[in-house]
Amino acid sequence: MQIARTVAELRQQLGPFNHAAFVPTMGNLHDGHLALVRQAKPLGDVLVASIFVNRLQFLPHEDFDTYPRTWDSDCERLEAAGCNIVFAPSEKELYPEPQTFKVHPPAELADILEGHFRPGFFVGVCTVVMKLFACVQPRVAVFGQKDYQQLMVIRRMAQQFALPIDVVGGPTLRAADGLALSSRNGYLSESERTEAVQLSLALKTMADALRAGATDIAALEAQAMQALTARGWQPDYLVARRRYDLQAPQAGDALVVLAAAKLGKTRLIDNLEV
Ligand code: PAF
Repeated sequence: MQIARTVAELRQQLGPFNHAAFVPTMGNLHDGHLALVRQAKPLGDVLVASIFVNRLQFLPHEDFDTYPRTWDSDCERLEAAGCNIVFAPSEKELYPEPQTFKVHPPAELADILEGHFRPGFFVGVCTVVMKLFACVQPRVAVFGQKDYQQLMVIRRMAQQFALPIDVVGGPTLRAADGLALSSRNGYLSESERTEAVQLSLALKTMADALRAGATDIAALEAQAMQALTARGWQPDYLVARRRYDLQAPQAGDALVVLAAAKLGKTRLIDNLEV
């Protein structure tokens, strides 16, 4: 496995290949990331993963400084999963000057849900992903479905800019109790880790009710918020939305339930297609 620290090194390493498959990450890799790498591997003639903790997508009070940097184990795991090139630029390499050109996704997609609670998040994500796409020039890029809204926003960005890149979603990997794997699970104390599964259980309860024909979505959402709050969580949202654009659903729409909630200091997100 080769390591590229600069765009020039990356371009040189990519020279012999025609169809890169790409998995962008911020490192601190878990089995969910490695599953994305394995999924992406046969989709190209070279597999590139990036590791870059992107300051632009963190709010000032968020965990940019403390986000775990686990370089050695990330590289070992990427190599074992079949990665060929790790693109790990420094901040100075990727943002040699302040990044004043930015990608602003449309408010109706990006200022709701995650974007509402993390203003500017999707500007940061789209800007770095556009830049990483420009560096790697992949044919295919794989993103986890756990970040459901992120996947949707990036897919639309690729469509609207006619990027010659297939944006593919990878299924969410879960621990044995059902907790979605996430780099931020590592922040949980032992007792919080036991409690954390309640987020996916709340989503499952909503999804089961919808599958069974419940139509009062507002009541389901309110019940789920109350139940989690009563257990000591601080939920940002627990909602049922239509899959297509994450807007409020109408009868007959294909649905997804999505949640974000803080347990202690750790903010977790999850979703389930209904
Ligand atoms: O999902 C992530 O890890 C990040 O948002 C991404 C896509 C690597 C952009 O920094």
